[in-house]
Amino acid sequence: MADRRSSDGGSVTGYEVVEPRAESLVESLRAFGYSTETAVADLVDNSITAKATSIDVRLRWAGAESWIAVVDDGLGMDGAGLREAMRPGTTSPSTPRRANDLGRFGLGLKTASFSQCRRLVVMSATTSSSLAARTWDLDHVVRVGAWQLLTTLAAEDRARWDELHGDRPGTVVLWRGLDRLVAAPDPRNEQAERHFYDIADRVARHLGMTFHRYVTGPGQITIRVNGRNVVPWDPFLESHETTQVVTDESLPCRDELIRVKSFVLPHVSRLTSQEHTTAGGRRGWTSQQGFYIYRNRRLIVSGSWLGLGFRRDELTSLARIRLDLPNHLDSDWQIDVRKSVARAPGALGPGLRRIAEVVRLRSTSVYRHRGKVLQRTSQGEVVQAWLQVARGTKIAYQVNRQHPLVAALLTAADGGDVEALVRLLEETVPVPLIILNHADRQGRQAAPFEETDPAVVWSVLTDVVRAMGRAGMSNPEIVGRMLTMEPFSDFPDLVREVCTREPGQETA
Ligand SMILES: Nc1ncnc2c1ncn2[C@@H]1O[C@H](COP(=O)(O)OP(=O)(O)OP(=O)(O)O)[C@@H](O)[C@H]1O
Ligand SMILES: [Mg+2]
Repeated sequence: MADRRSSDGGSVTGYEVVEPRAESLVESLRAFGYSTETAVADLVDNSITAKATSIDVRLRWAGAESWIAVVDDGLGMDGAGLREAMRPGTTSPSTPRRANDLGRFGLGLKTASFSQCRRLVVMSATTSSSLAARTWDLDHVVRVGAWQLLTTLAAEDRARWDELHGDRPGTVVLWRGLDRLVAAPDPRNEQAERHFYDIADRVARHLGMTFHRYVTGPGQITIRVNGRNVVPWDPFLESHETTQVVTDESLPCRDELIRVKSFVLPHVSRLTSQEHTTAGGRRGWTSQQGFYIYRNRRLIVSGSWLGLGFRRDELTSLARIRLDLPNHLDSDWQIDVRKSVARAPGALGPGLRRIAEVVRLRSTSVYRHRGKVLQRTSQGEVVQAWLQVARGTKIAYQVNRQHPLVAALLTAADGGDVEALVRLLEETVPVPLIILNHADRQGRQAAPFEETDPAVVWSVLTDVVRAMGRAGMSNPEIVGRMLTMEPFSDFPDLVREVCTREPGQETA
């Protein structure tokens, strides 16, 4: 046996070539963990990179002869290009790619296809070359124990090219021998057929989600599954009038700025039941919260807190954050071959955590207010009971002296005592305890008057209405003020009822 003297390729003189064993490796390449929908998405990536404007996914049930094809009108490949494309690991992940390339590893076409089928046929033509075709037949590879790529095109596959594509540039990727998808070989087995077409539905939904930014907007492309356009699924319901943009900023990552835009989706009461079900996505509202990572506008991660230490609470289920990555930061984000996993680089942790905290809080507040649009003051704001203020370089919390109730009490006869009490409360806000509880028991702080005996709420409201009446306000004025002041703005019906029983002055 030869010795390896150095890890420097140039000076190595002793070595053995150990070829991967084709018949075993081929089976391992089938086990990358694709589902049918993620595997098809990998082929759609390739079509988009090849500048296709129309991509047709066909799934045809025929028992053991069932097949799936992805047909595109992209640039296509000539014979040499196709031969190279069929090579597992055709391009190194470290090779720089064009900015709009959705690929990275030189593997997807093969790994995605092998995960679903035993026979991968790729047929392609360009503007300057006619039909070229190559086939990986895994049974053949296992039989001969060698990576023999078939160059002869079977007549039935050629017929499929004519049927699906014809004489124009573009590519057909055809999967046959769908051993993992066909539940029974008999084409008359209705249950197996239903199972197969259920998969078609899943594929359509997944593509509508993964490529929603490609099938809408400028330069949009068409993606069809069995003849029907996929329906784009926008995780942020951006076109809905009550979706809120909470933050929109760019975080530095290496020499790049990563755009992070966060949203709070509308409360259930603001959506039709159809909209609510659709927006919940495949996994449901609570699971679909968190970060959505796009690589070149293609969705990779759909709802995850990225291991930043947040739980998926129901109260935070309206929080969704869009993060846009270019394709040259793949290694920093540990993008995997399936384009289904990404991990945030450590340096971005604090920035992402900060944004997540803000948007989670906002979600909690919208969730608790049950989506009510609070009545606004003439300045457009609800008057808050507490204000955050700067005291030197520190933060302090102050009772809002402009809050109508506070203002009324301070100007009353015993206003001096009230001021002293308010100062006492302000100076002793139990901030550390609140922080601790917030971290430990997120979403478990009671909302104003939550779990409070209605008789107590009634009595507090009555006292407030009386105090405002004493301050000389008329009944309509009290109602108007109360509906724009925290926390009474949450109880409009109760406010109106109390005011009819406890009328203020007859005139303003
Ligand atoms: N539909 C297509 N049209 C034109 N060229 C294609 C098509 N599909 C694949 N190719 C070519 O085959 C090559 C290999 O594709 P493959 O999916 O295996 O790797 P990749 O896209 O480069 O990287 P990744 O493993 O990240 O997907 C592509 O780089 C592209 O040149
Ligand atoms: Mg690819």
